[in-house]
Amino acid sequence: MAPIVDIKSLTKSYAKGPPALNAVSLQIEKGEILALLGPNGAGKTTLISIICGIVTPSSGTVTVGGHDILTDYRAARSMIGLVPQEVMLEPFETVINTVTFTRGLFGKKPDPALIERILKSLSLWDKRNSKVMALSGGMKRRVLIAKALSHEPSVLFLDEPTAGVDVELRKDMWRVVDELRESGVTIILTTHYIEEAEAIADRIGVISGGQILLVEDKATLMSRLGAKEMEIELHDPIDALPESLAGYNLSRSDDGTTLSYVYDTQAGRTGITRLLQDLSAAGLVVRDVQTRQSSLEDIFVGLVKEKT
Ligand SMILES: Nc1ncnc2c1ncn2[C@@H]1O[C@H](COP(=O)(O)OP(=O)(O)OP(=O)(O)O)[C@@H](O)[C@H]1O
Ligand SMILES: [Mg+2]
Repeated sequence: MAPIVDIKSLTKSYAKGPPALNAVSLQIEKGEILALLGPNGAGKTTLISIICGIVTPSSGTVTVGGHDILTDYRAARSMIGLVPQEVMLEPFETVINTVTFTRGLFGKKPDPALIERILKSLSLWDKRNSKVMALSGGMKRRVLIAKALSHEPSVLFLDEPTAGVDVELRKDMWRVVDELRESGVTIILTTHYIEEAEAIADRIGVISGGQILLVEDKATLMSRLGAKEMEIELHDPIDALPESLAGYNLSRSDDGTTLSYVYDTQAGRTGITRLLQDLSAAGLVVRDVQTRQSSLEDIFVGLVKEKT
C-alpha cells in the first residue's frame, strides 16, 4: 500500500543559520502512530509545519493521501488535523463555538453529536460554555486537540501535545490517541518525553540537526533495552586492556580505573562469571562492580550526541 504521508528529500533553510531540515525522507503508513523524538531545534515543528502548509519547503516533495502539499494543497490539507505546539485560540470565544467553527472552516457539515463526543472524551464538556481565556493552560491544550479532531482528519499531527501539562491530561491524551488508533487515524506526534513515545507509538523516529537519525519499530528499539552494562572498578588503573581480555566487549575509561562490559540480559549466558575469572587471571583486582540497564533514553541521548 502507498504510504499515507510520503516525504522525499525535504530541505528547509530559513533566512539565517544552517538548514532546519536537511534532505529528510520518511514514509508513514496508514493507521500507524509515529513518534518523533528530538531535542530543541531539531526541526520537528518545521517538518510538521511544512506538511500542514504553514511553512514553505526549500526543496523536496510531500504527499498526503497521494496529494502533493503544494500543487494539491486543498485536498492534502482537508485530510490533516493539527495540534500546534503554540497555543493559538480566540480568547473571547466559548469552547464549544471554537470547536464547532473549526469543523465549519474545513467545510464539514455540522455534527453536534460528534462535537459532544469529542468534548466529553477530553473532559471539556462541563467547560463548553466557558470563554477560552478563562481556561487553564492544560484546558486550552485540550481545546486545541478538540479542534483538530472536530473535522475528522485521517492524519493527525500532534506537536508536543503534552508539553507542560499534568499527568492526568497526559494520560487522557494517551487514551484519546488509543481510541483514535481504533478508528484507523494515522498519528504523528512529536515529544520530548521518551515515556510518551514508549506508551503510544508503533514506530519511533529520532530527529536531530534537521536529519532523521533513525526510524524503527518500537518493539525493535525496545529489544535493545535488553542490553545491560556492568561497570567494573579496578583497584589499580591500567594503561591498556590485557591481550587475554580482547575477546570481551570491554571498554576502558580514560583514566584507566573502570572497565565497562555490555551484555545481553536476554542471552542464556551473560559471560560475567568467565569475565571475572579472566580478570583475576590477568592480575587485575576488582574493587567494585555495578550494573545498570540501558534505557530508550540512553539510546536516544547516545544517538543525538554521536551526531553533534
Ligand atoms: N520562522 C523561523 N525563522 C527562522 N528560523 C527558524 C524559524 N522557525 C524555526 N527556525 C529554526 O529552525 C530550527 C528548527 O526549529 P524547529 O522549531 O523546527 O525545532 P523543534 O524540533 O520543533 O524544536 P522544539 O523541540 O524546541 O520545539 C531551529 O534552529 C530554529 O531556530
Ligand atoms: Mg517544536
